[in-house]
Amino acid sequence: MGKIRLDKYLADMGLGTRTEVKKKIRKGQISVNGMVIKEPEYKTDTETDVVLADNQPLSYETMEYYMLNKPQGVVSATEDRKEKTVLDLILSKKRKDLFPVGRLDKDTEGLLLITNDGALAHQLLSPKKHVDKQYFVRLSKPLEKEDAKKLETGVDIGEDTLTMPAKIVYTGQSEEEVLITIQEGKYHQVKRMFQAVGNQVVFLKRLSMGSLKLDETLKPGEYRLLTQEEIARLREHAGTDKSSDF
Ligand code: URA
Repeated sequence: MGKIRLDKYLADMGLGTRTEVKKKIRKGQISVNGMVIKEPEYKTDTETDVVLADNQPLSYETMEYYMLNKPQGVVSATEDRKEKTVLDLILSKKRKDLFPVGRLDKDTEGLLLITNDGALAHQLLSPKKHVDKQYFVRLSKPLEKEDAKKLETGVDIGEDTLTMPAKIVYTGQSEEEVLITIQEGKYHQVKRMFQAVGNQVVFLKRLSMGSLKLDETLKPGEYRLLTQEEIARLREHAGTDKSSDF
């Protein structure tokens, strides 16, 4: 990113508002390359300068990528006046411009990517890209084989066209539990698809999105950073490559 003002560096990394971080700087709590800097406008190199706040080293991140196992009861939004949001769960976030890539319903669990990489999000969500999303579904009654076939062909959920062909796999645990893979992401899509064949989703959990798989060691409400490999594969899969896009 190059050089930016020291107060912006600190505010971007979540150390407080611009006013709060200016106070820290003036109080002598911040050093750059071993020297206490008291000027908020000091030009800081985000790549090479060593910045300490109260003797703790900071590292400047322009992009953050988190995998959240979304629990039930939180909304897929950045802010909400009444409800707890998925962003409220990411306690270690540095950037203030993070958002969830797509939405899961309040009562849906599972994989949610949270980032500030708008280009990647756009690629993953673009209907033209046909990115696979796999869900575990528990139904109110067994899924008949003919109904599974209908879902695999396309069903009427009240849109202009039938849904695109889905893939259904029985988990083998019970006839009420299936995995469904879809490439679309319309509002309540999975619930509406099962409704269209006279069934009802009683539990829904997203397991994957493109190449990204839910890390099953994450309990609902837990999250972790994506690995470099996961980020690279996701970009490759979604057809985005920073070096060629920008
Ligand atoms: N389909 C739904 O119906 N709900 C979700 O949360 C995700 C997909």
